[in-house]
Amino acid sequence: MERILITSALPYANGPLHFGHIAGAYLPGDCYARFQRLQQNEVLYLCGSDEYGVAITLSAEMAGKTPQEHVDHYHEINKALFEKMEFSFDHYSRTTWPGHTKVVQELFIDLWKKGYIEEREEMQLFSEKENRFLADRYVLGICPKCGYESARGDECVKCGASYEAIDLKNPRSKLTDTPLVLKKTEHLYLRFDKFKEKLLFWIQGKKWKPNVMQFAKHYIEELKPRAITRDLQWGIPVPLPRFKGKVFYVWFDAPIGYISAAKEWGEKIKRPEDWKKFWLDSDTKLVQFIGKDNIPFHAVFFPATLMGVNEGREEPFVLVDELPANEFLNLEGRQFSKSEGWYIDLEDFFCKYSPDQIRYYLAAGAPEHGDSEFSWKEFQIRCNSELLAKYGNFVNRTLVFLTKECGGKTPRYELPTSSEDKDFLHAITAVVNEAYLAYANFSLRKAASLIMELAAVGNSYFDLQKPWVLAKDPGTKKELARIFANLLECIKTLALISSPIIPMTAQTVWEQLGNTSQLAKESWKCILTTPIPAGQVVKPQLLFKKIEDEEVEKEIAKFSPKNPVANPGDSVVSTLKSEITFDQFQTLDLRVATILSATSIPKSKRLLLIELDLGFEKRKVVSGIAEYYNPQELIGKKVIFVANLKPTKIMGVESRGMILAASFDKEVELPFLQNVQPGSIIS
Ligand code: 2FM
Ligand code: ZN
Repeated sequence: MERILITSALPYANGPLHFGHIAGAYLPGDCYARFQRLQQNEVLYLCGSDEYGVAITLSAEMAGKTPQEHVDHYHEINKALFEKMEFSFDHYSRTTWPGHTKVVQELFIDLWKKGYIEEREEMQLFSEKENRFLADRYVLGICPKCGYESARGDECVKCGASYEAIDLKNPRSKLTDTPLVLKKTEHLYLRFDKFKEKLLFWIQGKKWKPNVMQFAKHYIEELKPRAITRDLQWGIPVPLPRFKGKVFYVWFDAPIGYISAAKEWGEKIKRPEDWKKFWLDSDTKLVQFIGKDNIPFHAVFFPATLMGVNEGREEPFVLVDELPANEFLNLEGRQFSKSEGWYIDLEDFFCKYSPDQIRYYLAAGAPEHGDSEFSWKEFQIRCNSELLAKYGNFVNRTLVFLTKECGGKTPRYELPTSSEDKDFLHAITAVVNEAYLAYANFSLRKAASLIMELAAVGNSYFDLQKPWVLAKDPGTKKELARIFANLLECIKTLALISSPIIPMTAQTVWEQLGNTSQLAKESWKCILTTPIPAGQVVKPQLLFKKIEDEEVEKEIAKFSPKNPVANPGDSVVSTLKSEITFDQFQTLDLRVATILSATSIPKSKRLLLIELDLGFEKRKVVSGIAEYYNPQELIGKKVIFVANLKPTKIMGVESRGMILAASFDKEVELPFLQNVQPGSIIS
């Protein structure tokens, strides 16, 4: 028995996860953990929320929330998605767990004492208006490479250049749009450069994908000391009195989160020392599932950190053994982006489709050797032609036939004697062996295709044996029993090899064979070597629902070429406009105004001439709401009015201002205010 510690990259609690994330670092991790448990290996599968970092404080500030409120919210949302998708984490932790702070500070002090931490005085960008240093994404400025005006403090979204915030020209605060100045500050640097030789030696023994290896080696060659502290309020405090007010850089604390998560798991199961056998026993195999953007941190920086910590330790921490790094999954030709509306509404998705349908689809097209694509059409094809027509059909036709024609009980299995039966058994065994290797070598694509291959092997045997012909002759009972015993063994094997990818369906099939145990807790080997006991009652039931063309067309219609976007409902809205600063927003003068009169404008079906009272003056505007409101019903209503819009002439009438209205598809609705006085400011 092997002991295997499996991790999936800790996702930021800074927004909802989407299928793009799931396909890369998560589903492969879960399938691997499930597979290894079936091998009866001792598995600990960990994940959790990554909750510090500038991106989080920035989003929280923009949303008017504290960082803690912000991460609490997304931690729960993401955890719930994993639960919905049947993830089998032994523990889902979070880096704001107080125990994590302790571990990070301890490891840091250890590195500090060993001389791996260096203090450096440096110039950083400071906002005099906000009286704080601003780092990374809080800073905007002109890209030093391409001259793009709104480049971020850490990278340019236009040309992709990566640099330090102080390299930007005319740096300004993202929040207040005010200029930033350079001010002296002190930071702590980890001397990663000291681990160069050790890392190069260590990495030689790895059998990682060539691109992972190449990337990692390149990083090792270039290793320099890196700042591991930030001037921020949100983060793990640096435990040195002189550095009060500074916190650790998120990429220093987050990977240590894998260790803390194991400790928290130990506390949860009331065996607080158990984490040690996973992290501190050299027999443990550490397998870390990540997306390709996380390679340097897992292949170089975190191992180097642990190498430093391990020096002189009696029980050193294990370093990563396997690093399956996947590429990205896009959505209908573009990257998933919730902020741009290019996403799938998951609540809606799971009302219509099952977790196993999406798990199978993502596994079958996993981005293992290049980016892959979520397409609704392909999702429909995989679900209908593979899951339903091959897998579901094979299981269902066999169990229905057995129930209708052969008494519905599992026949006794006997070793094959005929060449046809022997061939069938060999074909099954060959697929199972390949599936074993596919899972063990992190190839979900291959494993998914082998599931369908096994269903096809079963279907062919069924067709070849023609049980519907035999059933007409009462003298063939024994023969039918033999055929169905073979078919049921094939179904059992199908449930087994599909269980890591589609666990719920596999369990249902397992139960349809008359079993009552949890398939996920069984042993791969035992299942293969123990025939189904005779006399169990089989319970056929359809496994998958067909996805109709109209359904898929409706989904596709949400993504039109003009770049409109999917909305939580069924309708289509336009993409978000580019960001503005608060100061820019404040240039709008929004007021409450009472409608005094509304009259139609001759020769226009759309327009009304509306007179309003702003409290301190009266205004006339032309508004395109004639098709939605009867002029009479508007009189006396209080609306939101843009009072400082430049006057313009519409149909020969001067319009001085604008009434705000919501438009949705072909509907228009005015928001009416109830209690405020005309002239009140809306901000
Ligand atoms: O890229 C990300 O989503 C990071 N939050 C991954 C962190 S992995 C680990 F180091 F915690
Ligand atoms: Zn640029």
